[in-house]
Amino acid sequence: MDALLEAALRARENAAARFSGFRVGAAIEDIQGRIHTGCNIENASYGLTMCAERVALFKAISEGAKEFTRVAVVADTTDLIPPCGACRQMLWEFCRDVEVILANLQGKTERFSMSELYPRPFDASYL
Ligand code: THU
Repeated sequence: MDALLEAALRARENAAARFSGFRVGAAIEDIQGRIHTGCNIENASYGLTMCAERVALFKAISEGAKEFTRVAVVADTTDLIPPCGACRQMLWEFCRDVEVILANLQGKTERFSMSELYPRPFDASYL
């Protein structure tokens, strides 16, 4: 299996999802080939929940990663889940038009580009 998908699968096991029970894993590859992982992190306030994708992205940025090649998202669903709107905005701004691989635990995968998932984004080019 692709190392990026494996990393997302492994990260999913760390999900702190006691309120929804919905565990998500994400992995982001940077141009140096480093893999940065994340899982969703929920809490009693609910609203402060952070998605797996943004956890992976924040970790990557905080480790000095600046350019990215691929993102993987894994959940235990038949229909593969894409990143939520907030994550699409952040992924677009920091990762640009990277490949996004969605997967489930049965090994089903689908591939998209960020521009397919998030057409006509708002970003710093308008400022
Ligand atoms: N979640 C993610 O981590 N990534 C997604 O792409 C969709 C949703 C999380 C947030 C929350 O902890 C749980 O899944 C249910 O929405």
